Amino acid sequence: MTAIRDHASPDGATMARFHPDFVWGVAASAAQTESRNGRGHSNWDALCEARGAMLDGSTNVLCTHFEERYPTDLALLADAGVQAFRFSIAWPRVQPNGPGAANAAGLAVYDRMVDAMLERGITPWPTLFHWDVPSWAGDFRDRDICQRLADYAEIVARALGDRVQQWIVLNEPNSVALRGYAAQVHAPALNNAESAFAAIHHQNLAQGLAFRALRATLPSGRRIGTTVNLQPVRAEDDLAENQAAAAMVDALWNRAFVDPLYGKGYPALVAERLAPLVRDGDLELIAVKPDFLGMNYYSRIYVRQAPGEVLGIAQGQAPQHLASTAYFHVEPDGLAEMLLRLHEEYGAPEIYVTETGFAMPDPPPHDGVVEDGGRIAHLASYLKAAHSAQAQGVRLKGLFYWSATDNWEWAQGFAKRFGLIHVDRDTQARTPKRSLGYFADCIRHNAALDAPPP
Ligand code: FCB
Repeated sequence: MTAIRDHASPDGATMARFHPDFVWGVAASAAQTESRNGRGHSNWDALCEARGAMLDGSTNVLCTHFEERYPTDLALLADAGVQAFRFSIAWPRVQPNGPGAANAAGLAVYDRMVDAMLERGITPWPTLFHWDVPSWAGDFRDRDICQRLADYAEIVARALGDRVQQWIVLNEPNSVALRGYAAQVHAPALNNAESAFAAIHHQNLAQGLAFRALRATLPSGRRIGTTVNLQPVRAEDDLAENQAAAAMVDALWNRAFVDPLYGKGYPALVAERLAPLVRDGDLELIAVKPDFLGMNYYSRIYVRQAPGEVLGIAQGQAPQHLASTAYFHVEPDGLAEMLLRLHEEYGAPEIYVTETGFAMPDPPPHDGVVEDGGRIAHLASYLKAAHSAQAQGVRLKGLFYWSATDNWEWAQGFAKRFGLIHVDRDTQARTPKRSLGYFADCIRHNAALDAPPP
């Protein structure tokens, strides 16, 4: 590693430089940024309708109107030197009404988006499934959805495979299974263990089938990965039952997704519950050994045993000293911990941090900028943690900040602002935040820079 002097380190400190091929990106998803215009009815539309609105009184009718406004967003990102955009394709836009041939106008939206990224020197990193299911396709309790998702993946691969080099199949199947099928927070808002186990296995299987379809369809040399939200799990205290709960959550949240992907099958703690769902050949299909692993990381999980709850576990007390954003705890060391664990346990895979970011109570724009020093300080600490993992040998290949712009944070609505770019909800005007400038400096130096003094 070269030690260089730079204006960002006036004291002459060594810069925490990443490897030269490190990819600097931002991430977003269709269901959180696109409007409903021109797409079919989805599982998240159904949840909005069932609840009337999300926690902040909003719905997903317009979001950030990304499918029309992406040129503005991309121009700001390109100016900042952002190299890659992880976005998602809306399955309900590609197949709005049923299986079979795609809706040409829907696919054309992504055709244009991909071209617009490439024209600006930004590499497109599409995620095929970032939680929005067309209503006709049902949900993950039903094994038939697996082939439906793989068929949709193949359609997109045929349309974009000539230009898209990097593919991400699923986003956070663990969040979908546990928040959507056990905790009733996300679509389809179910709360029973059987549904959650079915959602675990059927997403893994859908992913295996989609990998097979993509590998058969895409030109050679394309790289296919998938993304899981990985979190070190801690018991809230030393009690044996809470330690057991932590081991169970680690199995359900982390291992039930990553172990079978690398051919290790389901972890013993959950294998029995999953066994009735697993048919001959499933585990072979699931063991795709992706070209890279996407890891989303925000913070650790703290748990305790809770016999009355679905799955017998509940959120536990986190240590009092932890700082928090408007949404999550700030735990940069957990990022390095999880990266090292993946490196050691799964044969040193190539890893991208496909999301990390901070929801903050930002002030409104003033003189064309949003002052978000708190976000910069957190980001600097997470980048340093990522760098320390790379320095310890982890094959960390890139990092995507969540999110490009403020957007619709699922059940929380617009209340949680994660963006490097501020979005005015009434006018849809975009204003860069100070953090976009900090991120641009990091990209320019390919380094985890110190946060500038407040
Ligand atoms: C992740 C999701 C993403 C966003 C961030 C804050 O779990 O993948 O869509 O909601 O959290």
